Amino acid sequence: MEKPEKLIVDGKRLDGRMPDELRSLRIEAGVLKRADGSAYVELGENKVLAAVYGPREMHPRHDQQPDTAVLRCRYNMAPFSVEDRKRPGPDRRSVEISKVIREALEPVLFLKLYPRSVIDVFIEILQADAGTRTAGINAASVALADAGIPMRDLVSAVAVGKVEDTIVLDLTKEEDQLGTTDMPIAIVPRKQLVTLLQMDGHLTEDEFKRALDLGFRGCAQIYEVQRQALREKYGVKEE
Ligand code: CDP
Repeated sequence: MEKPEKLIVDGKRLDGRMPDELRSLRIEAGVLKRADGSAYVELGENKVLAAVYGPREMHPRHDQQPDTAVLRCRYNMAPFSVEDRKRPGPDRRSVEISKVIREALEPVLFLKLYPRSVIDVFIEILQADAGTRTAGINAASVALADAGIPMRDLVSAVAVGKVEDTIVLDLTKEEDQLGTTDMPIAIVPRKQLVTLLQMDGHLTEDEFKRALDLGFRGCAQIYEVQRQALREKYGVKEE
């Protein structure tokens, strides 16, 4: 990637956004016929599919838990999703991301309702441009709701960070690679509960607070689009 001289010019980012602006976001619920629940998310150049199966009997049986369902998440990047072909199959990064996505979603699910069962969430990254784990969480939570699985709330997620000296919302790949800090977060909006927070880089305490606040505001916007996607699928009128 050729390094641009500046990532922020006259207060605007290279793609024309203000620091507190999200990329264009589109969410559609129920896009896959054979999954129990599904969703498609486009966030800027990211294209992400989530498919949910279950709750269904856990196999292999020795992984069954007698008092609860188990949430299984698999984050996978298609070989053609990135600039340099991604070797198919799991790697350290996708194993880590699958784990943090599971932990981000678990708190909203009533897993105890389904002993010995499993809920499978497959997240497929078709095109990547930074923020795929958070786009994956947004897709997965709509897909879980689409599957009719009882949930306390949706989970909304976005990355915030620091580019040059500016705190920004929803970093592009260029900003992620050439900026200073990338901090993906996921929250349960109605409880204001943080279920994922990672940080690559450094922030001062004041910058961290501002970044978190910006992330909460970004998640509130995403939450509305998630809810709208479900309303459209189920024909619920605007409140
Ligand atoms: O996608 P996310 O920001 O959640 O995770 P990351 O590990 O910070 O990756 C940032 C971006 O780097 C991805 O979204 C891809 O665009 C890119 N990437 C890539 O080009 N090749 C890989 N093998 C992994 C990531």
